[in-house]
Amino acid sequence: MTPMGDFRRHESIFGFSGPAARAVAAGIMMAAITVVLLSLPTRSGEWLPPHELVRKLYLLPILLCAMWFGSRGTLVCISGATVACLAPWGSPWPAEISAQFARVGEVAVFWLVGALAASLFDQQGKFVREIEAANDNTLLALAAALDVREHNTGVHSQRVADYTIRLAREMGVRDPADLDRLWRGALLHDVGKIGIPDEVLLKPGPLTEEEWKVMRTHPEVGSRMLRRIDFLKGPAEIVLSHHERFDGAGYPRRIRGEQIPLGARLFVVIDVYDALTTDRAYHTARSHAEALENLREGDGSRFDPAVIAAFGRIPFEELREIARNNQTPLARSPSELASAREAAPFLAPSPQP
Ligand SMILES: [Fe+2]
Repeated sequence: MTPMGDFRRHESIFGFSGPAARAVAAGIMMAAITVVLLSLPTRSGEWLPPHELVRKLYLLPILLCAMWFGSRGTLVCISGATVACLAPWGSPWPAEISAQFARVGEVAVFWLVGALAASLFDQQGKFVREIEAANDNTLLALAAALDVREHNTGVHSQRVADYTIRLAREMGVRDPADLDRLWRGALLHDVGKIGIPDEVLLKPGPLTEEEWKVMRTHPEVGSRMLRRIDFLKGPAEIVLSHHERFDGAGYPRRIRGEQIPLGARLFVVIDVYDALTTDRAYHTARSHAEALENLREGDGSRFDPAVIAAFGRIPFEELREIARNNQTPLARSPSELASAREAAPFLAPSPQP
């Protein structure tokens, strides 16, 4: 695990990553095949089989585009291959009618294989999104059940999850897989409290030292629960570290600075902001400005200064919108879950300016 925790840098080509890296890879592949095609001699018939072989290589970028980009990207790729195969500056156009049919047949195969592959990958992507949405809605239900036990509202966890995604984007996190892990980690941050007895978790007064010992076990309990599930191993790291402090005075591992996964450094700011801007048993909701001032007091001790700076740049209206959209526990469709990752305009009482 890097100091970035669950935020792995994905594949990078010439400084591009994610979909941009794939687009660059497909473009390079198309260009390389075309260059090879143009460099083959055209004078004698003996070079026709090599031309034919190289033209068939266009199927590789076409299939990759179908897998990476679906039908639109495939259409662009096939169009490029079609032009390269039929243009007069490519392979020489054969004189015989049968050979001309064979050449048109080659291009038709590109379109048939590309359309079929794009359709299959689009279908597969749709099924995967439906399964992910079902998984995430199960996690939302679990988080809502935990929230009802502790906060009565059932929306704290889903609201902080959406706030955290917005903050992550402000910090430059763009990879959807990273945003997914972060959203799930924030949503399930207190899942370990399921193991804390009611007399400790719901005690109205201050906890004794013994009771605090019990309470402080919840990050490890939660992390252990999630680590067993493959797609929740990344979020488990945020769950384990969500009570660490930037100065190393947190728990359970007392790690400090960038040893704390970025997701947990983001989340801790959000968790405190949400606690400050909503009515709790021990205080009434403070305004956004008061909450920001309070957060800045913890800058460098409890919180990562870079994260506090990024949080301060988020317009208040966006945070209010997120809070407004998170007033009731929601099951979400695949597209709503996707847009929650994009802009987090979802799910409590709105914070005041
Ligand atoms: Fe917690």
